[in-house]
Amino acid sequence: MAEDQAGPDLSQGVSLAELPDGGKLVGHVGDEAVLLARQGAEAFAVGAHCTHYHGPLVDGLIVDGSVRCPWHHACFDLCTGEAVRAPAFSSLDTWTVEQRDGKLFVGEKRARPGAKPRAASGGPNRIVIVGGGAAGFAAAEMLRRQKYGGEIVMLSSDDAPPVDRPNLSKDYLAGSAPEEWVALYPLSFYSDNAIDLRLRCAVAGVDVGAREIALATGARLPFDRLLLATGAEPVHPSIRGAKPSDVLVLRSLDDSRAIIERAKTTRRAAVLGASFIGLEVAASLRARNIEVHVVAPEQRPMERILGADFGEFVRTLHEEHGVVFHLQTTATAIDGKQVRLSDGSVIEADFVVAGLGVRPRVGLAESAGLRVDRGVVVDAYLETTAQGIFAAGDIARWPDTHSGDSIRVEHWVVAERQGQTAALNMLGGRERFSAVPFFWSQHYDIPINYVGHAEQWDELPVEGSIAGKDCLVRFKREGRTLAVASIFRDLESLEAEVSLEREQAR
Ligand SMILES: Cc1cc2nc3c(=O)[nH]c(=O)nc-3n(C[C@H](O)[C@H](O)[C@H](O)COP(=O)(O)OP(=O)(O)OC[C@H]3O[C@@H](n4cnc5c(N)ncnc54)[C@H](O)[C@@H]3O)c2cc1C
Ligand code: FES
Repeated sequence: MAEDQAGPDLSQGVSLAELPDGGKLVGHVGDEAVLLARQGAEAFAVGAHCTHYHGPLVDGLIVDGSVRCPWHHACFDLCTGEAVRAPAFSSLDTWTVEQRDGKLFVGEKRARPGAKPRAASGGPNRIVIVGGGAAGFAAAEMLRRQKYGGEIVMLSSDDAPPVDRPNLSKDYLAGSAPEEWVALYPLSFYSDNAIDLRLRCAVAGVDVGAREIALATGARLPFDRLLLATGAEPVHPSIRGAKPSDVLVLRSLDDSRAIIERAKTTRRAAVLGASFIGLEVAASLRARNIEVHVVAPEQRPMERILGADFGEFVRTLHEEHGVVFHLQTTATAIDGKQVRLSDGSVIEADFVVAGLGVRPRVGLAESAGLRVDRGVVVDAYLETTAQGIFAAGDIARWPDTHSGDSIRVEHWVVAERQGQTAALNMLGGRERFSAVPFFWSQHYDIPINYVGHAEQWDELPVEGSIAGKDCLVRFKREGRTLAVASIFRDLESLEAEVSLEREQAR
C-alpha cells in the first residue's frame, strides 16, 4: 500500500467515538493522505503533511483552530489550510467534512479560498525590501498574500534568489539534497507575483529624509515603506599566515558550494568553532568521509546555549561519528597544510572552515541615523526609530514580551515570522511581534529543537535521558521556564511553546 493510502478510508466515515474533542487521526481519501481533526463541535480535514519539509501533522498539536507541525513548528489554519506561521508558506489542501449517524465523513476537496487579508487595504505605492534572505522573502510573500497591489522591489546582494539557508550546512552540504531543493521558490514565483527581485544589487545607503535608497551603482530608488533585512555576516578569524581565502566561511549558497568543491578532492578538514554552524559542517563533512578536526576555546561544544550535559552529549555524538575535538584551544597560525594551535599541537588539514559566529549587518541602518544598539532597535511592531522604516531578522533587536528584555536572535523561523509581521505593519496593520523564538539544529540523525530564549538560568531539570536521545531540558530562572530544548519530544516542545505564549499573553 502507498504511504499516502495508509490508515482508514475517511470517505467511508470514522466513528465520533474514535475521534474525541481535540483528537486527530490520519487516513486517506483516494490516494491522498488526509488529517482529520476535531475541535469542539467542529471537524476539519486537511492535507496530512506539512508543506515545509513534509512533517507528519498527526504528530503535531491542535491549538485554537490550527495545527502546529511537530518538526519546526509551522502553523496551519484548520479551516482554510493557510500556512499562518513560517517556516511553511504554502497552504494545505482542505476537504469538506459531514457528520451523520454518529460518524464523520470526509467529502470533496475544496477549492483554495486564499488567505483572508489581515492588514488594512490600500497602503503604500512602493515597498522596498533590502535583503533576499529569510525575513525579506517572508515579507514579500506575505505582502502578496495580503493582496497588496502596489510595487514590491526586493534588492539582494546575493547571486542566488532566496535560499533555504539552514539546508546549506545540512543535507545540501552532506550531499543528500540536490541543489534544486535549495531555492525557497523558483524564479517564476517572483515574476508570477510581480515581485521585482534584483540580484547582485547592493544597497549603499538610505536617505531617510528623501525616502530614497542609494544603490552601489549610484542609482537611487524612492520608497514609501522600507524593510531592512540585511542579515548577518560570518566572522573571519585573523590567524597568522592565513590569507582570507585559506579559511572558508558559510553563509551563502556560493560558500556551501566552495566547501563541497574542496571536499571533493581532499581528505582532511579543520573546523574552527564548535557551535551550530561549525558542528553541522563537521557532521556534513563526515558524511562525505572527510577526516574532521574541530578546534574551539570552550570546554564543551554548545555549553553556553544548551548547558553542560547537552554539551557533553553533542561532543560524544560527534566523536561517535569520528570527529576529533581540540577543545580549550584556538588556531594561532596556518602554515600550508598545518594548523597550529595555542596548546602547541599541530593539525594536518587540507582546508579550514570557520564557524565562529556572525555579526549583524547594521551598517546601512547606522549610516542612515537609525538607532543601533547591538542590532537595529525596533519597537514591538518592528518599526525602527524612523517612521515607515522597518527591520527584521538577524539585524533586529526587539522588545521580547516574554523575557522583558530587548533581544536579537539568529534563528531562521524568527527571521521569517518577523518578515511576516513587518509586512502586515507596512500595510498599516498593528501586529505586535510576540512569537516565542524557535530554532532547530540537526546533527547526523539527531534533531535538537529549542523554544524560548534563555541567556542565563539557575536550574536545568532534565526529563528523560539526554544520552538516550529522548529528552526535554527546561532552562529555568527563579522558578520560571524561559526555554526548552528537546530531542524527539516534539509534542512536548510544541506544548512548551504554547505555554510560553500563554504566559506572555497574561
Ligand atoms: C549555514 C547556515 C545554517 C543555518 N541553520 C539554521 C538552523 O538550522 N536553524 C535556525 O534557526 N537558523 C539557522 N541559521 C540561521 C538563519 O539562516 C538566519 O537566522 C536567517 O537566515 C536570518 O535571516 P535574515 O533574513 O535576517 O538574513 P539572511 O537570510 O542572511 O538574508 C540577508 C540578505 O540580505 C542581503 N544583503 C545584506 N546586505 C545587503 C545590502 N547592503 N544590499 C543588498 N542586499 C544585502 C544578503 O545578500 C541576503 O540576501 C543558519 C544559518 C546558516 C548560514
Ligand atoms: S516540516 Fe513542518 S515546519 Fe518543517
